Amino acid sequence: MPEFVKAAKVSDLKEDMGVLAIVNNVEVALFLVEGSVYAIANKCAHKGGPLADGHLLGMDIICPWHGMKYDIRTGKAAPDAWNKTFSVASFETKIEGEDVLIKM
Ligand code: FES
Repeated sequence: MPEFVKAAKVSDLKEDMGVLAIVNNVEVALFLVEGSVYAIANKCAHKGGPLADGHLLGMDIICPWHGMKYDIRTGKAAPDAWNKTFSVASFETKIEGEDVLIKM
């Protein structure tokens, strides 16, 4: 059964930058945008590029390897992505005190 697991501290995150967390042996890319936290799988569906290292443009993360673009709210391809069928897992998040939790 999915449960919320601590992924990071709020202070580990920076606005508009990705942070890599390893949660239950899964690489998760965390993003803080306007005070809200979003979590998606770190590995790009194309060839596994590290999405936490990508460039964040609004709510879209651009894979640093070949430019695939995902919506960090859903993990789905952004409307103008070069491949509309790619997607990565997204995870529900919540903040409790100093901790960022994600539902795994
Ligand atoms: S690995 Fe991400 S676009 Fe190729």
